[in-house]
Amino acid sequence: MQLKTILPASRLKGSVVVPGDKSITHRALLLGAISSGTTRIFSFSRGKDCLSTLNCLKQLGIDIRLSPGSDPHLTIQGKGPDGLAAPASILDAGNSGTTLRLLSGILSGQAFPSRITGDSSLKRRPMDRILLPLRRMGAEISSLDGSGKAPLSIRPSVLTGIRYTLPVASAQVKSAVLLAGLYAKGKTSICESIPARDHTERMLSAFGGNISTKKRPKGGLITTLVPSVPLLGRDVPVPGDISSAAYWIGAALLLPGSRLFLPRVGINPTRTGFLTVCRRMGGDLTFSRTQTFLGEPCADLLIRHSLLKGTVVSPEEIPSLIDELPMLAVLAAFARGETVLRGIGELRFKESNRILSIVSNLRAMGVSVSFTEEEICIHGKQHPSGAAFSSYKDHRIAMAFAIAALAAATPSTLDDWECCSISYPGFFREIDRLQDL
Ligand code: S3P
Repeated sequence: MQLKTILPASRLKGSVVVPGDKSITHRALLLGAISSGTTRIFSFSRGKDCLSTLNCLKQLGIDIRLSPGSDPHLTIQGKGPDGLAAPASILDAGNSGTTLRLLSGILSGQAFPSRITGDSSLKRRPMDRILLPLRRMGAEISSLDGSGKAPLSIRPSVLTGIRYTLPVASAQVKSAVLLAGLYAKGKTSICESIPARDHTERMLSAFGGNISTKKRPKGGLITTLVPSVPLLGRDVPVPGDISSAAYWIGAALLLPGSRLFLPRVGINPTRTGFLTVCRRMGGDLTFSRTQTFLGEPCADLLIRHSLLKGTVVSPEEIPSLIDELPMLAVLAAFARGETVLRGIGELRFKESNRILSIVSNLRAMGVSVSFTEEEICIHGKQHPSGAAFSSYKDHRIAMAFAIAALAAATPSTLDDWECCSISYPGFFREIDRLQDL
């Protein structure tokens, strides 16, 4: 096991170019593969999760090349909707739920059988949430051992569009159904009461797909895809990942005297809950130079150290900050007063059970925390001490508690820290660089 010692830090100053958005990179790879023509992906995520999507697509006969140079990018020769080839062996999504769930939607519409699996963490995560709607569309998709979990087996079938109300706010489920909808007879509609991230919808539209989203009279959104039109490859400039930016935002807010500049961070409104909550806690965060690339807004962020106060985060806010909850919990530990995170049940089904991972690491710092299956209540502390943190082999837990360690009163250790490369290779090098500035 790799153990890292992390010492308390003083201020962080400078600028950080955060990695390209992981969710957008996955979608650009997948849509590029099934579109006609060439797709080029700039500022793409180099994390292991996106590499899993890339390798699965290579196994499905797609030509993807890295063009290095001053503006490195991935070039995909799209083969159109029916151009994927039968894989010679089982596809491996690694640690990536997005790869497994989104690709299953596409594989459900293919004329060849396939199987897809993942690592031990992914094999523990629920897949019945995609099996159910995909089967309703006519897909012959099943869990190999009948547990509702990966490995999954998919056989050729005829798909029909459905109208589906998401039982949980999940962009992965929504996207799996929409991608299968590209291969279905008739239209596919998704109803959401609390909207999850909408990158699939935005990119389908940018690639020429016939997709629209409307407000429903009784609240929530309905998205409808009509699958008749072919998708056309595009250049995709990927904005910086707001979920990776969250660690630097957290670090700058916590360490006295800090001032960090983060250029070109994605601010898609379905992803900005963390920024809203940080401001509500008293965080000094400003945006400038807002621009939109291929339907995705981004801006430069400036964050200054701030004294934080506790807050209540409501269930409606959770989908817009779902991946930032570990960092938010760390901020709450250092804030004045109590913070309550409500409606967080989905955290149990992430790369680790994030409710337990967060609670045990916060308690190791001497922070008082109570929790249920849906809620965490954190009592902020003046000077939490350092601790022996565990990452639970979960990249977001590793990075959130690395920042906690920088802000803690005494030294800490962190195990299995290299899992940060799932979304952020080079994260710890960046910590060292910012302290040297
Ligand atoms: C993602 C959706 C979210 C998020 C995950 C990435 C995506 O998962 O937690 O990291 O790219 O669609 P859910 O759909 O399970 O909420």
